[in-house]
Amino acid sequence: MNSIFDFAEACLYRSDIDEKLELTHRAMQLLRENRLQLTSSGQVLPIEGVRFPERPVLLPPREMPSRKLNTPGGAAAFFHAIAHVEFVAIYLAWDLLYRFRGLPEQFYRDWLRVADEEAQHFALIREHLKAMGVDYGDLPAHGGLWEHATDTAGLLPARLALVPRCMEARGLDVTPALIEKFRQAGDQQSVAILTRILTDEIGHVELGSYWFKFVCREEGGDPEAEYRRLIGEYYKGGRPKGPFNRPLRHKAGFSDAELDWLETGG
Ligand SMILES: [Fe+2]
Ligand SMILES: [Fe+2]
Repeated sequence: MNSIFDFAEACLYRSDIDEKLELTHRAMQLLRENRLQLTSSGQVLPIEGVRFPERPVLLPPREMPSRKLNTPGGAAAFFHAIAHVEFVAIYLAWDLLYRFRGLPEQFYRDWLRVADEEAQHFALIREHLKAMGVDYGDLPAHGGLWEHATDTAGLLPARLALVPRCMEARGLDVTPALIEKFRQAGDQQSVAILTRILTDEIGHVELGSYWFKFVCREEGGDPEAEYRRLIGEYYKGGRPKGPFNRPLRHKAGFSDAELDWLETGG
């Protein structure tokens, strides 16, 4: 296997977790060695066939048991939820580069690097969980994350607006306070893992902003107006909820006008 699209197809349409991590790292290694084929070939399979492992069991968001960080099992439940976010993020990065063809080579390089970082995040969290006696799949997980992908499978600007510039951007808002909580609890390992993830996620959202603007301009649109329009059309539940971390979102390519709009709707 030496085409990025063959790696993507294997990672999306096979459900084995360890194989997925290994293939993702191998593809990244081939990219670094300039041995990965980036020219598009073959058909794009429908998103409905994408396969997830049998465990964790996926539940609708409102059926997820709510657990507080400071309750017994709360930290494990929290990190299991994060492990799931990272696991789905591997799929989201692969799906982005698999489904949307004909973009500059850099697009494929960028999102493969994101897939590889998500695989690293997942592995870090999984190890952390195992040290608490829980493996990924032992608890139920949020079933709604992949919907952002299926809802936007036919439209790249919508995918970029909803996934990196909405779902991943949310992480920039909420992670700093979580890191602070673990710092106060003296849990340095959790602090280190979440800090590493946050740093990488700023980069992912920044890439999302870069490519969002790129595709909007290619199509002759105004990125800020398009962002408002696509969020209005595709985001379920009205509008993204704040509070928004303006400095980090700024770093990740959000304009003041976009942030004002998110905050006030005006
Ligand atoms: Fe991540
Ligand atoms: Fe990410």
